Amino acid sequence: MNVAVIGTGYVGATTSAALASMGHQVIGVDVDRQKVESLNCGRLPFYEEGLEQLMQNLLATGALTFTADLPRAVRESDILFLTVGTPSNADGSADLRYVEGAVRDIGRSIKTHKVIVSKSTVPVGTGDLVKTWLQEELAKRGTDIPFDIVSNPEFLREGKALHDALHPERIVIGCESDKARAVMTSLYEGLRTVLFYTTVRDAEMIKYASNAFLATKISFINELARLCEKTGASISKVARGMGLDSRIGGQFLRAGIGYGGSCFPKDVEALLHLSRQEGVPLQLLDAVARVNQEQAAWFLQKVLRHLGPLSGKKIALLGLTFKPGTDDIREAPALRLIPELLAAGAELSAYDPQGMEAVRRLHPGLRYAKDPYDALAGADGALLLTEWQEFLELDYAQVKRVMAGAVLLDGRNALDGEKMRGYGLLYDGVGERG
Ligand code: UGA
Repeated sequence: MNVAVIGTGYVGATTSAALASMGHQVIGVDVDRQKVESLNCGRLPFYEEGLEQLMQNLLATGALTFTADLPRAVRESDILFLTVGTPSNADGSADLRYVEGAVRDIGRSIKTHKVIVSKSTVPVGTGDLVKTWLQEELAKRGTDIPFDIVSNPEFLREGKALHDALHPERIVIGCESDKARAVMTSLYEGLRTVLFYTTVRDAEMIKYASNAFLATKISFINELARLCEKTGASISKVARGMGLDSRIGGQFLRAGIGYGGSCFPKDVEALLHLSRQEGVPLQLLDAVARVNQEQAAWFLQKVLRHLGPLSGKKIALLGLTFKPGTDDIREAPALRLIPELLAAGAELSAYDPQGMEAVRRLHPGLRYAKDPYDALAGADGALLLTEWQEFLELDYAQVKRVMAGAVLLDGRNALDGEKMRGYGLLYDGVGERG
């Protein structure tokens, strides 16, 4: 099938490559000509495992191309994916200006029937807005070209995006005509997974509800971790014991310094905004967001307990990105901690395999190390803030030798406490027996 993917950010680039690798002819569209040029040369503006290589292969076979010429892409495609960004407004609501812009551009260009598929995370009811914007543009042209609106939310995790796009656990398709349903069914024919058909509004809500529920699991376990610590229980053991019950499930129960990224914080806020707007407060979700905000401050208290007043203390930060496998630092818990540590007078030296460049722009005064041992050299304490594999495989005997002190605080419960203590390190995790 011929597919256009409008917006070549993280979701758009992954979707384009995944659809092209499934045998479709894909054109990725972006208003940014420079970006298009570099994508056509096989260069991705962000890091995502395996994606750049796959893109280069697909560009070579011609299955995937990029263009800034939207009318051409619309002309040559039957299915138009909307994968433009939906940032937050100051009040937490989703800013739909890029969605509206792309839809109106489509409305000015279409000449034959199209299926317009929204993959961007958009509030419930956006499908109706999309319909209105298209109808307005068609009316201006005095034409009445038929189209179908579909909501097909993405469930890609950064760092595992390609895997998630090619091996999804489910594909949610919100559509309101047999024609659209048939088109979407044959589009995903090559994937062995569940296709779940609903209305557009249901699909839009499923996306928010899924992210909000996962965020809820994390805040639940983080709050419980605080209680475990007081009562001498281990949150890792508690989570494992809970997760063995398939009704609960073991995933997203890893306690830590809070969730970050471009999705959970933004989507939770957008859903809360919608709930307030509709006069149906989501009290539980309100607490989820609050607990997440507090988690970094709670961890900071732990740092103070172990290291005492921080003025003049050298602290090594291992990890800056919001999770491993990405260079994304948006809403990263490390960014909530850095200003607090600096304000308390700590001297910070940081290392992250992918995130240093972006953090350097925000905090040019930090020392950015050339490797983890360099960051740890002479440190009074070390904080593990992102569980990169590289950090799990360090030689911790060497870590102990290069540090001036011995405090190792694991903000992700990623290391084996017993082993760390065996190296003479004063190890503490989140919600673990100290
Ligand atoms: C999330 C969802 O997992 C995807 O399904 C969804 O498509 C995506 O948002 C989106 O809406 O685009 P992502 O933000 O890439 O994906 O990252 P996750 O792997 O879900 O992690 C989010 C945050 O939760 C990270 O900061 C991570 O460290 C934290 N986390 C995750 C925990 O603190 N504990 C856990 O047990 C799991």
